[in-house]
Amino acid sequence: MPVPLLDLTRENQPLLAEIQAAMQPVIEGSQFILGKVVSDFEQSAAEYFELSPDDLALGVSSGTDAQLLALMALEIDAGKEFICPPYTFFSTAGVIARAGLKVKFVDIEPETYNLDPSKLEDAISEETAGIMPVHLYGQLADMTSIMEIANRHDLPVIEDACQSMGARHKNIVSGNFGDFTSISFFPTKNLGAFGDAGMLISKRPDLREKAIRMRVHGMKDRYEHLEVGGNFRIDALQAAILSVKLKYLPEWHEMRRKNASYYAKNFADLKIEQNQLEQPIEKKDNWHIYNQYVVRVKEGKRDALKAHLDAAGIGNMIYYPTPLHTQPCFQYLGYKAGDFPVAEHACTEVLALPIHPFITQDEIRQVCEAISSFYKV
Ligand SMILES: Cc1ncc(COP(=O)(O)O)c(C=O)c1O
Repeated sequence: MPVPLLDLTRENQPLLAEIQAAMQPVIEGSQFILGKVVSDFEQSAAEYFELSPDDLALGVSSGTDAQLLALMALEIDAGKEFICPPYTFFSTAGVIARAGLKVKFVDIEPETYNLDPSKLEDAISEETAGIMPVHLYGQLADMTSIMEIANRHDLPVIEDACQSMGARHKNIVSGNFGDFTSISFFPTKNLGAFGDAGMLISKRPDLREKAIRMRVHGMKDRYEHLEVGGNFRIDALQAAILSVKLKYLPEWHEMRRKNASYYAKNFADLKIEQNQLEQPIEKKDNWHIYNQYVVRVKEGKRDALKAHLDAAGIGNMIYYPTPLHTQPCFQYLGYKAGDFPVAEHACTEVLALPIHPFITQDEIRQVCEAISSFYKV
């Protein structure tokens, strides 16, 4: 039997009656844009993120738009540099360019794929206007070190927590370190909408009202625009769906974590060694939520293992095959292959395996046996 990388039907089907009941008042009341359903969802999310009353949890149209909105609210002089890793989903660097800023890449740590704080300080100059660390695959970057450096240089931080809603570092939940944080509710995330949606978290009371205005074209009173913002609103129907699903999120995180330990047990049983296939690690001080379960396939065998799993019907994916500094659209920045060796090496070894909450233990066993049969040939 094939094992899918992700099966959203298993997650959503049991909740359908509850979700339809939550959508009904929105449809009957025709309040499709913002309104009480959105503010109720924002309130529940603020509690989930353990925010204080001065902080803001703002429902927006996508994780990308949350990042763009944060950069726009910071009003940084055009041409200044904003730091991010070269190994992440495109939008992290894309929004920096779209905000009229210069993307400045800093390499990642090999074991977490997150921004390497030991390489950060050297990249900071007079031109640096801020830092966007990414919490990749469900694990937080080393925010103790990154915030220490950012604070010392008085630089704003935007956390890209699009893949890591609810993950923790030193028991502090994502969203509570930086000035702003972006969250994505893209359907494949641990909390997924029925389409695009996202959230902006702000811990900048001085920019709170501005961020709220900029979600709606910088509008204060009707047709009075204080800033140029955008249409960054979340749909009320998405907020209704997410309000239902949010209640199950802690349980789903735990199910993903159990699946990760079940992988470890199976790899040990089947004698698949770390020097063949490196399992993801949960760094000390971190609480991983496994949005993705990404192994590193050693000895140059990644593409062959991928082909083997494809042939066996085992879902898998390469996140990400090409680092951002060598993407065609960023050639103008002048980077070249070899500039970020850790990121480039990761691109050649990573392979994501199925980890969604509703995968069965039998299916995980099947994935591991398919991997084992690859090494036994
Ligand atoms: C690391 C990272 N940053 C940003 C985004 C952008 O989020 P969205 O797809 O909601 O715009 C994503 C989503 O895929 C992501 O994984």
